[in-house]
Amino acid sequence: MADELHTRLIEPEWAEQLEALERRCFPSIPPDELYNAAMLRNLAIDFPEGNYVVFAGDEPVAMGLGVRVDFDIDNYQHTWDDLFGKTEESGDNPAGEWYYGTDISVDPAYRRRGIGRDLYERRKQVCRDLNLRGIIAGGVIPGYAEHKHEMSAATYVEKVVAGELYDGTLSFQLENGFEARGVLAGYLEDPTTDSWASFIVWPNPDFVAH
Ligand SMILES: CC(C)(COP(=O)(O)OP(=O)(O)OC[C@H]1O[C@@H](n2cnc3c(N)ncnc32)[C@H](O)[C@@H]1OP(=O)(O)O)[C@@H](O)C(=O)NCCC(=O)NCCS
Repeated sequence: MADELHTRLIEPEWAEQLEALERRCFPSIPPDELYNAAMLRNLAIDFPEGNYVVFAGDEPVAMGLGVRVDFDIDNYQHTWDDLFGKTEESGDNPAGEWYYGTDISVDPAYRRRGIGRDLYERRKQVCRDLNLRGIIAGGVIPGYAEHKHEMSAATYVEKVVAGELYDGTLSFQLENGFEARGVLAGYLEDPTTDSWASFIVWPNPDFVAH
């Protein structure tokens, strides 16, 4: 059946299709700020065991991507370019102790079926399997676009955490066990949210320090 979903570790030959999926999922972000085919190919070569793609038949409809990084959790201010720059390298550091979630993208036609939750569960399992400290990420806050003239991004995030406002991305991440530690200025260019993002963390409870 064409619609049957199955999940696989990323492979380099899917890079072009995944670039198209990425663009469908982040329509308000300029394409040169998003993963392109070359970067996706490198990611698949460097860290396939940490990157998943969900297919409906032969069509990729979702992906959960990330790399291992060294990161000072107490000084978390950073932008996407600080970590990954304008380069086609994957940014994966096999000795890094954190899983940096670079991207979770579910095709708009396949949302609200639990695919995003499943991708987060798989990432958490990667952290357990590789004994990583946890997942960190800069998270887009699409709902801030409607509130940016009334409040700061920090206030917006506080209200989403308190359950007073709903954000299509951040509320979902909180539901999946993430903590919002603060906001990131100029994280990734997005005119609709003035480029604000949240900084989110899922600490791996099973992590054992070496
Ligand atoms: C954020 C995103 C990844 C969520 O993916 P998803 O597959 O829709 O996620 P899920 O289906 O697991 O959960 C989404 C919501 O649907 C609900 N849901 C899950 N299964 C459901 C079902 N069968 N029926 C109805 N609702 C359902 C969940 O409870 C959840 O609700 P919440 O938002 O109140 O937490 C997706 O919306 C997306 O790709 N957005 C654009 C890109 C993006 O912002 N990515 C995050 C990177 S920073």
